[in-house]
Amino acid sequence: MRCAPSSRYDRLASAVVILSVGVISTTVLRSALADSKGPPLQKVADVPMPGPAVRFDYQSLDTSQGRLYLAHMNANQLVVFDVRKREVIANLDGFPSVHGVWVVPELGRVYASATGEHRVAVVDTKTLKTIARVGPVSYPDSIAYAPGPKRVFVSDEQGDADAVIDTATNSLIATIPLGGGAGNTVYDPSSGHILVAVHGKNELVAIDPDTAKIIGRYPLNGIENPHGIALDVKERLAFVAGEENAKLALVDLTSMNVLATYPVGEGPDVLAFDPGLKWLYVSAESGHVTVFRVNGKSLVFVGGISMPHAHTVSVDPETHLVYFPLQDIHGHPVLRIMQPAGGKLTPILSDPRLKPSDADLTSMPLIKLTTHSELPAEGEAKEFELGGKTICVANVNGVISAMDNVCLHMGGPLGQGYIEGNKIVCPWHGWEYDPKTGEVEHDPKSKLAVYPIKIENGDVMVEI
Ligand code: FES
Repeated sequence: MRCAPSSRYDRLASAVVILSVGVISTTVLRSALADSKGPPLQKVADVPMPGPAVRFDYQSLDTSQGRLYLAHMNANQLVVFDVRKREVIANLDGFPSVHGVWVVPELGRVYASATGEHRVAVVDTKTLKTIARVGPVSYPDSIAYAPGPKRVFVSDEQGDADAVIDTATNSLIATIPLGGGAGNTVYDPSSGHILVAVHGKNELVAIDPDTAKIIGRYPLNGIENPHGIALDVKERLAFVAGEENAKLALVDLTSMNVLATYPVGEGPDVLAFDPGLKWLYVSAESGHVTVFRVNGKSLVFVGGISMPHAHTVSVDPETHLVYFPLQDIHGHPVLRIMQPAGGKLTPILSDPRLKPSDADLTSMPLIKLTTHSELPAEGEAKEFELGGKTICVANVNGVISAMDNVCLHMGGPLGQGYIEGNKIVCPWHGWEYDPKTGEVEHDPKSKLAVYPIKIENGDVMVEI
């Protein structure tokens, strides 16, 4: 790509200017981001993770200690990562099929769903030793903590219930039948209630953590199999994603009504909300990450990115850094650290750890994307993974082109779209892209990056 190096230099130059005038407030950063175009996130670093190239699941960040706990699900390991030094502190064994993870700094404990042994493991954050295994819970998944009664609530996804753990005795004290599979369980500090997304019923259920009883069931109209939840506590909003129909509901937590729904990537899984920037990240099994900004009681689409297996996300509200554990980048797991991209921002680059490396500022050579035989047939488009990025390759009237895969409208996957005339058409709402220039008629001021392509000895090479 020819324009990428210059845009990266522009960003660095902007950062240098910003450094010279001091720190910029979150408000200024927010408005700078609101005006920016293009991909919503830029890569800061890929940090190698230990263990095999297999699936991760939930993450939980303790900002007071600067620690991120990551469930490396199919490695049966809990990874402890220092976000300040950017290094792995420990890789703990003994967490069969670990799904949910939740750190409770006030107790000095991490709770992790060892789903493979139907238990919730309790880990001391000082010693990093497992001090208890609580259960049985049929299929422990997501975890939340209610500070009042000091209880942990665990989604029992296949047991159609929420399990309740007393943290003083590390014992299971209640099971709350939900009438459907449990999606995410979260604690709402504003109401003091536990909220659970219930599959099948398509409801958001409210639980009083003191009595461990259901106190309300609210329909999630327009959502099928609600799973992931995030909250904007200040605005009294919940974001609930339907894994079955790839829709996100915006729920008013005062009226408990669905205010609107929005399309997101296929198989939405984990959500994360940055309260400072008011940005919401919805990561999906398809690897699409859709980014929204909260604007009053509605959401504005900021952009989308696509990375292989980017179905889990967390965000640091202090640095605004976003974390994606990616299971397989060139055969190894990495923790991809990203930051909001955009024009003239980036006070966070004032942190020396966040400066782009020289390698990031250098144009990359031609890289093998695929082989000639794998290219799409005439009149078709296809997706290819390259260096952690997804590329849309299209064959329009016999001419092969490569461009970014993420639609500028709401992040639709262009490589899953179709060809009409001489355009690539987004499968979600039909925006049409010129494969030569990346231009789109619906938004003449924006365009997608197009990558030069070369075919040599049966190999398809792109400059990216
Ligand atoms: S996401 Fe709406 S047209 Fe592509």
